[in-house]
Amino acid sequence: MRAVILVGGFGTRLRPLTFTTPKPLLPVANVALLEHVIAGLSVVGVTEVVLALGFKPEPFMSAFPDGVCAGVALRYAVEPEPMDTAGAIGFAARFAQINETFIVVNGDILTDLDISTLIAFHRNHGAIATLHLTPVEDPSQYGVVETNNDGVVQRFVEKPQAHETTSRAVNAGTYIFEPSVLDYVVPNKPLSAERVVFPALAAKGVLYAMSTNDYWIDTGRPETYLAANLDLIDGTRSQILASIAAQAHIAGTAVITHSVVGDGCRIGAGAIVANSVLLPGAVVQDGARVEASIVMGHIGAYANVTDCVVGAEGRIDGHTTLVAKKIPDPATL
Ligand code: GTP
Repeated sequence: MRAVILVGGFGTRLRPLTFTTPKPLLPVANVALLEHVIAGLSVVGVTEVVLALGFKPEPFMSAFPDGVCAGVALRYAVEPEPMDTAGAIGFAARFAQINETFIVVNGDILTDLDISTLIAFHRNHGAIATLHLTPVEDPSQYGVVETNNDGVVQRFVEKPQAHETTSRAVNAGTYIFEPSVLDYVVPNKPLSAERVVFPALAAKGVLYAMSTNDYWIDTGRPETYLAANLDLIDGTRSQILASIAAQAHIAGTAVITHSVVGDGCRIGAGAIVANSVLLPGAVVQDGARVEASIVMGHIGAYANVTDCVVGAEGRIDGHTTLVAKKIPDPATL
């Protein structure tokens, strides 16, 4: 089976991290997000992945120079302009001449869903397209999907207010498609799956959805990206990964708790790092304290940093205190 992974978004909510690294190539517990996603696909027998690329395609090609990721062959479909989700799926599927049932996943979702159950559901219902749904407590920032008892999608409510729907099931970003879905996608034009194609399929009664309670996280915001990292080191998920990379340089008196430390990081004497992610090459100088933060750049000696996102170009002066800041600030660039 083949899969298309959407990886061409701008990743604006994860700026400044995505100024230098596209979101799907950011590491989660020291393994690229994309590699986690592809490993999940290989388990169900996916042998080829088509990367739907737009923004910054080159880093993907450099990251996988032999065209293989997690043992799966890669193909690169590079859009001439951003085509939005459905336009991107259509472009990639036509590029790879996909003419059989295929999987589509958003490149920023981590889940323990067994995709073979979604494929079985799709086939049993004779669907043209099947969406995976996940329940969330507060759906106001998501696309809510209402289904009947047979799993036929009745309605989409994008970012609903409390009175608009009682459903808590949201689009979880994994889809099974028949090639006939492409009849709904005009070639080479930007088009939204969530706002245009899915509602059109639902209106014809050929769109199905299956909800599961599996672990699921959309890593696209700083707080969820941080959580996705920590969930992989603390036993929240069935898989537990090492929290400290082998090539990190950590002073003996530094204290690191519930954090991920990447290759080439330097942590000085007496520094404290808690509930944080230090991405490869980050520097935390002597006596600095880093709490609930994501750091690519440089934290000066005795600085105190809480709830911050520090990009590759970010430098925090020594002895400063920062709370809930993005450095450099994407709003000013
Ligand atoms: P934000 O800018 O922070 O909203 O992130 P994003 O650009 O990734 O957007 P969003 O999270 O809504 O996108 C969902 C998925 O679709 C992600 O995997 C994106 O990479 C992907 N995506 C969004 N727009 C495009 C596009 O125009 N082309 C391609 N190929 N992928 C896209």
